[in-house]
Amino acid sequence: MEARPRAGDLDALKRGCDATTGMAYVRAMGHLLHVTRKPTMPTTEKFPFSIPAIRSFEKLALDVRVTFFVGENGSGKSTMLEAIACAAEIPGYGGDRIERDHSLDRQRQLASHLRLAWTARSRTGFFMRAEDFFGHLKATARLDARILRELRESKDPSYRPTTEPLPDPVHVDEILAEEHLARLDVRSHGESFLEFFGQRIRGEGLYLLDEPETPLSPARQLALLALLGEKVREGAQFVIATHSPILLAYPKARIVSFDKAPIETVAYESLDHVTVMRDFLNHREKYLSRLFG
Ligand SMILES: Nc1ncnc2c1ncn2[C@@H]1O[C@H](COP(=O)(O)OP(=O)(O)OP(=O)(O)O)[C@@H](O)[C@H]1O
Ligand SMILES: [Mg+2]
Repeated sequence: MEARPRAGDLDALKRGCDATTGMAYVRAMGHLLHVTRKPTMPTTEKFPFSIPAIRSFEKLALDVRVTFFVGENGSGKSTMLEAIACAAEIPGYGGDRIERDHSLDRQRQLASHLRLAWTARSRTGFFMRAEDFFGHLKATARLDARILRELRESKDPSYRPTTEPLPDPVHVDEILAEEHLARLDVRSHGESFLEFFGQRIRGEGLYLLDEPETPLSPARQLALLALLGEKVREGAQFVIATHSPILLAYPKARIVSFDKAPIETVAYESLDHVTVMRDFLNHREKYLSRLFG
């Protein structure tokens, strides 16, 4: 079932939601409305075109502020999210340029067969895999340490700066931002991750997040849920691949299942993530005796 604003329902559109469903529609400039396949999409058995959800994909509606990708491991959620990031030409979360990321070469191929429809073309936002976050923290902390060392040594008249180039871009603002981010590393992973969200997601923009729940406790996932609401009110749009029943509960979000071919919108209560988790918690002994005899 696909909820769409009805023609003439201008009041609801101005409020940013559909009068009947209450779904929060994207209405600000620079938001992504939908992704469709181009007729050029190959019908080959090679990754990523071999993935059933992608092979059968026709249209992905993204005209709400929060869209979730759900599905079994290997169903193609990350692949689609990465391809959208490539097609949208938004940066990696640390300002990295994803067109230089060779691990995304195949996703770029898929991206070239996707058509993106926007309210207005925008490159504001970023793409982020939770698993990359901590590697980036470490890299920026190393850069921070090196800059501080070079600044200190530059006061020494005998000091000659290294000829090794600093990572691109080396703008002062970027370095200051990275210095600050590096300081977050002294906090726990979950704390620094949440702080990162609070600081880096501002106003309008498209934020593509792959399993952001990874480092977060259930309480912190609830905090992230609240933060998503805050950022949506500021104009942000999210597309999130997740297995978290907590995040998936975001009110009025569209949940797209990659277990279906073609992909389709599904109801929260029908998700395995919800029913299996609930049943396990309610009947833990039954599950454990089945698993361990
Ligand atoms: N670079 C690659 N080359 C070949 N196959 C790949 C590549 N990357 C992913 N795959 C395969 O494509 C399928 C979809 O992977 P993808 O990472 O998109 O799944 P996912 O839905 O994000 O899973 P998870 O929930 O485990 O993160 C998997 O079978 C995976 O093994
Ligand atoms: Mg994935």
